[in-house]
Amino acid sequence: MQIDGNMLEELKKEAMQNFVPILRDNTMKLIEERLELLRPKKILEVGTAVGYSAITFSKYLDEGGKIDTIERNDKRYEKALENISKFNLQNAINVIFGDAKEEMKKLPDSSNYDVIFIDAAKGQYIAFLEEAKRLVKNGGLIIADNVLFRGLVLSDYNEHKNRTAVNRLREFLKIIKEEKCFDSEVIDIDDGVAFITVNK
Ligand SMILES: C[S@@+](CC[C@H](N)C(=O)[O-])C[C@H]1O[C@@H](n2cnc3c(N)ncnc32)[C@H](O)[C@@H]1O
Repeated sequence: MQIDGNMLEELKKEAMQNFVPILRDNTMKLIEERLELLRPKKILEVGTAVGYSAITFSKYLDEGGKIDTIERNDKRYEKALENISKFNLQNAINVIFGDAKEEMKKLPDSSNYDVIFIDAAKGQYIAFLEEAKRLVKNGGLIIADNVLFRGLVLSDYNEHKNRTAVNRLREFLKIIKEEKCFDSEVIDIDDGVAFITVNK
């Protein structure tokens, strides 16, 4: 899919000016390298925000490929729809409004996503992972952003603020390292990104 690079830069700038948390450049570059090799037919994204990452990922879709992306914030959902229309990508990107914990459950076992990108509430990553494992195709890839949460996850951080999210991310890292069906790699770049191949 061809995307106008200048328009994408504008969208990124606008998101940053409005303090919308979007994928950082170094992490985006790593993900784009993977997507370029994989040329996925189906992607699921958890956490659309205003559509910046979904629009970028659409560049790497195989012919006729599709992205489903879930967002629970109504203003961001509306903005994502607007942005996707501006890029004329309504046929390639389907935005689902709702809480991903519930919306993922509604997706069928036969979904067979090539790639699932998790980029939403950190405290829910284990629940997202469980559903992603069900929805990804055998040999498919789960990518999770922010898994090192500003370096707190691998430190001895134990303060009240963010404690739950940090502990849950520690548990998440343990699961992707120890469960036999996951072959994972955690990269200490930006906020930390995990690439997890799923062998069912
Ligand atoms: C980091 S932003 C996503 C950024 C986006 N992937 C990008 O790079 O352009 C996280 C988004 O996930 C949404 N979110 C958080 N928890 C969610 C959940 N349980 N279900 C759906 N959306 C969620 C937030 O409202 C927020 O817009």
